[in-house]
Amino acid sequence: MVRSYRSTPIDAVVVDRILDAARRAPSAGFSQGVELVVVTSDAGRRRLAADAHEAEFLARGFDPWLSAAPVHIVVACDPDAYRSRYGEADKTASTPPDEWTAPYWWVDAGAVLMMLLLASEDEGLAAGFLGSHAFDDLAAVTGVPAGYETVGLVTVGHAAEPTRKPSRPRRRRQVSEVEHSETWGAPRRIEPSE
Ligand SMILES: Cc1cc2nc3c(=O)[nH]c(=O)nc-3n(C[C@H](O)[C@H](O)[C@H](O)COP(=O)(O)O)c2cc1C
Repeated sequence: MVRSYRSTPIDAVVVDRILDAARRAPSAGFSQGVELVVVTSDAGRRRLAADAHEAEFLARGFDPWLSAAPVHIVVACDPDAYRSRYGEADKTASTPPDEWTAPYWWVDAGAVLMMLLLASEDEGLAAGFLGSHAFDDLAAVTGVPAGYETVGLVTVGHAAEPTRKPSRPRRRRQVSEVEHSETWGAPRRIEPSE
């Protein structure tokens, strides 16, 4: 996740390729209930930066994140798209969305988010994610209608060297710490190399 950007604009064709990758993310029942609001105008990005209280972060020594990043992509999902899809004839035997163990529209939004991040990387660009909790009202600023759930905002652009380093770098877990072999708690046996 990159939170410091150069303000160099990104070609619209490149943005289109990133969005084209995102539309191919998997979705529960192929409901495709994730929507993207793309904001590249100075005024739109300034509004989003203000709604996320960027000035307060600048005062604390952070780089300008949203106002510098040339492309913002707001990710929103639509529970009704899933209810409607699972009302179709081929889905009547399936568990209805409101009884799911998790709202898969948020899972699908996560898959779209990952596609946006990876597609940006593939274009030689950097990307970051800011959750909707960080905004006063992300939906209102971007006009996302009632009934949709606004997940957050992906920034895309050229990375800049951050002026402020993370205060507490955290170690990434290794596969041996993440994987349980066959059942929970059993570590994978790593064969000694010859
Ligand atoms: C669901 C989710 C929410 C996140 N929310 C924020 C956020 O609000 N602000 C932020 O600076 N980073 C946010 N991040 C980024 C994480 O902090 C970041 O992925 C993590 O520190 C690991 O860094 P890396 O992705 O560069 O390896 C979020 C990431 C995810 C997946």
